[in-house]
Amino acid sequence: MIRVEKLQKAYPAKKGSPPVQAVDNISFNVSQGELMGLLGSNGAGKTTTIKMLCGLIKPDFGSIYIDGLDLLKQRTPALSNISAVLEGNRNIYWRLTAKENLEFFAGLRGLEPRGMEAEIDYFLELFGLTEKINVEARKLSRGMQQKLAIAVALISKSKVVLLDEPTLGLDVQASYEIRQLLKKIVQEQERTIILTTHDMNVVQDTCERAIIINDGRIVADDRIENLLKLFKVKIYKIIVQGSLTSAQKSRLVEIDAVQEMEKFPNETAINVLLEKSETLYDVIDILRADSSLIKSIDQEQNNFERVFLEILERG
Ligand SMILES: Nc1ncnc2c1ncn2[C@@H]1O[C@H](COP(=O)(O)OP(=O)(O)OP(=O)(O)O)[C@@H](O)[C@H]1O
Ligand SMILES: [Mg+2]
Repeated sequence: MIRVEKLQKAYPAKKGSPPVQAVDNISFNVSQGELMGLLGSNGAGKTTTIKMLCGLIKPDFGSIYIDGLDLLKQRTPALSNISAVLEGNRNIYWRLTAKENLEFFAGLRGLEPRGMEAEIDYFLELFGLTEKINVEARKLSRGMQQKLAIAVALISKSKVVLLDEPTLGLDVQASYEIRQLLKKIVQEQERTIILTTHDMNVVQDTCERAIIINDGRIVADDRIENLLKLFKVKIYKIIVQGSLTSAQKSRLVEIDAVQEMEKFPNETAINVLLEKSETLYDVIDILRADSSLIKSIDQEQNNFERVFLEILERG
């Protein structure tokens, strides 16, 4: 549904600062019905990529195909397949109510308001906006405005929906609700969605696949489960009562797997990265040798955050 080839974009130099290569030769495909996460730190090039995909800025180089249409050469038909919500949800009108926004934007896309009644009600209901149906958008809470912005993007029935940071600045519940809604929409309607975020949890929760970008380049493109498998190591946190003896410390330092030791007022935490489970016996032997009391041993889940940071570090 989306094919991106060798896309590049540099912002020209401004007084005193050199040009910025915001997107540097990226290529990827997204299939119909896929919800793909574009993940990267601040300034990685996510918004620039999304803006090129929805025709707001022109790439310096490369091509974009939407459902087989060349966005640069067949702009209008290609764009008719796309709707987007950029940062700050500027795609809704503040002075229109929730319902009017949906009607207006459906109309702009050439959909008959009358025939759209049921569809509009469906989205208002789905996004929990039914009670706010006649409230002006500017008077909705930030989370509701974001939901409305996404509903407006969805009402157009476009095959592709681009969402730039859809959960930015939302509270835990609103962010959770939006993630659930997106999963539901993709399943029910076979829409193709790209969402950008710097939040690993959003991607881990919502997407089956992620592209990680850094400094405008793709550093990983894989299914989430594969990305997690890449770094499948167990991390144990062992809490010991009191301090360690200097003999224990020096023996622990010799074990590569011991990542760090932290001293707290009444206890010491030892983080052990286990590639082989025997290492845990070695650590425990060292603790037993000087009769240290183990208060707890916890296994930390290998989460996407760790994977993300690791990938960025390894470049
Ligand atoms: N209009 C612009 N003029 C000059 N430089 C820009 C412009 N927009 C973005 N940049 C630069 O391009 C790079 C990529 O920015 P972009 O906004 O695409 O990143 P992002 O991944 O969306 O970051 P964030 O997570 O902060 O939203 C950054 O170095 C940024 O400073
Ligand atoms: Mg951005």
